[in-house]
Amino acid sequence: MIISSATDFRAAAQRRLPPFLFHYLDGGAGAEQTLRSNVDDLQAVKLRQQVLRGSEQLDLSVQWFGQQYGLPMALAPVGLTGMYARRGEVQAARAACARNIPFIQSTVSVCPLAEVASQISQPIWFQLYVLKDRGFMRDVMRRAWELGARTLVFTVDMPVPGARYRDAHSGMSGANGPLRRVLQALCHPRWALDVGVFGRPHDLGNISTYRGHATGLADYIGWLGENFDPGITWQDLQWIRDEWQGQLVIKGILEPGDAQDALAFGADGIVVSNHGGRQLDGALSTAQALPAIAAAVKGKMTLFADGGVRTGTDVFRMLALGADGVLLGRAFVYALACQGQAGVERLLSIMEKDLRTNMVLTGVKAVSEICADQLHRPSAGQ
Ligand code: GLV
Repeated sequence: MIISSATDFRAAAQRRLPPFLFHYLDGGAGAEQTLRSNVDDLQAVKLRQQVLRGSEQLDLSVQWFGQQYGLPMALAPVGLTGMYARRGEVQAARAACARNIPFIQSTVSVCPLAEVASQISQPIWFQLYVLKDRGFMRDVMRRAWELGARTLVFTVDMPVPGARYRDAHSGMSGANGPLRRVLQALCHPRWALDVGVFGRPHDLGNISTYRGHATGLADYIGWLGENFDPGITWQDLQWIRDEWQGQLVIKGILEPGDAQDALAFGADGIVVSNHGGRQLDGALSTAQALPAIAAAVKGKMTLFADGGVRTGTDVFRMLALGADGVLLGRAFVYALACQGQAGVERLLSIMEKDLRTNMVLTGVKAVSEICADQLHRPSAGQ
């Protein structure tokens, strides 16, 4: 199969993965309206072609939190990444490192932080949820710090689990889940050998380290389920701001007022995100939400966005809508599932090439120049 885009990687991943894993990654909450509008609204953003502006030397680098990165992208935290390729978090982190972009490791990764940190030469960024078990939160933050993490990405849009209907149908949850998952694995021998056999242990490394015993897939769902904290408020989080000495990025902001609260709280950055359409179905797409948030806080904190980004053009669009950087979630995991580290590097190269093409065709020389001037606004008579 010819692979030239994230869409191709998705199709190949669907063939390779047992359905319970493909649909867990690919699916969203409820009727998946928000999931779809993330993609559709972003693709609907029209760019202004501006020619003959001499943009041969392009600067794609960005500075975030005093650190220079090679591209305006980061790999988003995706739970269970290690189920999509053998020791998946390690492979994805290596790819991020090779392209000099941040790898944000999920709390609910298969590989523990120490395993990933020992394999790469740049500090990981660490993602944490709001959980009832504050002992776990403190423990994992301390371990992340000791392993060199200085950026904590704090996810605030999951105080309750979203309704993931696909998971019940796919065998990820619901009746006979374990049996169905085994049967599906047997029908996908390449995955079964690579990940099912050689990718072990299949536990949640950070949680096992804390609890002192292995936790399997079912335990993941169970432990998270018991640990959601719907009563949480900004005040409850103050101890995290006080204890974490590094940068704090709040992930899951869709409203300008919440962005301002994050700023007042002392966050160094936010991620404009609806959790990839996996939480509140009916929430605004990130492409729709971003401009108003940028108007409220741009320049006062680092502004990341995710949701629906599949191409370098989508990255360009997010930057033009006001983001300083873009997180890739599903897109990188599709590539990882197909070709491991090499797949992720390949996807990043494809997206970089796209981005370069867009910069030339819109007449910008540096990522830092991408702004609303490159957006086509019919009201301005364009
Ligand atoms: C976890 O963050 C999920 O979206 O399933």
